[in-house]
Amino acid sequence: MVTRINPSILAADFANLESEFGRISSADLAHVDVMDNHFVPNLTLGLPIVERLLQVSAIPLDIHLMIEDPDRWAPAYAEAGAYSVTFHAEAAADAVGLARRLRQIGARAGIALKPGTPVEPYLDLLAEFDQVLVMTVEPGFGGQSFLASTMPKLSVLADAVRASGLDVWLQVDGGITEDTIVQAAEAGADTFVAGSSVFNGNPADRIAALRAAAEAH
Ligand code: DX5
Ligand code: ZN
Repeated sequence: MVTRINPSILAADFANLESEFGRISSADLAHVDVMDNHFVPNLTLGLPIVERLLQVSAIPLDIHLMIEDPDRWAPAYAEAGAYSVTFHAEAAADAVGLARRLRQIGARAGIALKPGTPVEPYLDLLAEFDQVLVMTVEPGFGGQSFLASTMPKLSVLADAVRASGLDVWLQVDGGITEDTIVQAAEAGADTFVAGSSVFNGNPADRIAALRAAAEAH
């Protein structure tokens, strides 16, 4: 199985983003958390900054939209050149319609589920998405503790993806460390977002250690 490590730049130095991207060039994708202070109680960055990041990043961008009304705002991130655009199931009015639009523009379409959001309604819709993000913390802030209570949901999803034969990536985000990544990999995740555990050390070493831990499970 392919393991992808996507550092979250939420934990990077926002005054030096270009050089921070230089420190994560061994990662698979760079995870960018867009927060609007409505869907989550925090505000980060939006399209103009993402457009600049796309110009300076050597690796593709994995955009995580924690915003209201993604039906309106998400396509612009795909048009700007994001590799993947993930919106929240709880916020989308027409998740399937939005995913189809994102794919049509040329991005991978992802759907994210907060810890308390059940996965069952999406199991028959897996063909509509390239990635499902199981949040392993409540979205909004970096540096929180991994919620192991989300692992049964991830296992259900992993079984459904396996049974479908589809190539849907299963992403986890929040509290991912060398310890928790093992649980998530065992439950079936293949794409791991890590913010503090990458940037609170030497990013290249941290990325290698996370990858090794995930692959050793
Ligand atoms: C939380 C964000 C995460 C966050 C993860 O809402 O979606 O991407 O940056 O940070 P850590 O790895 O520190 O939990
Ligand atoms: Zn995120």
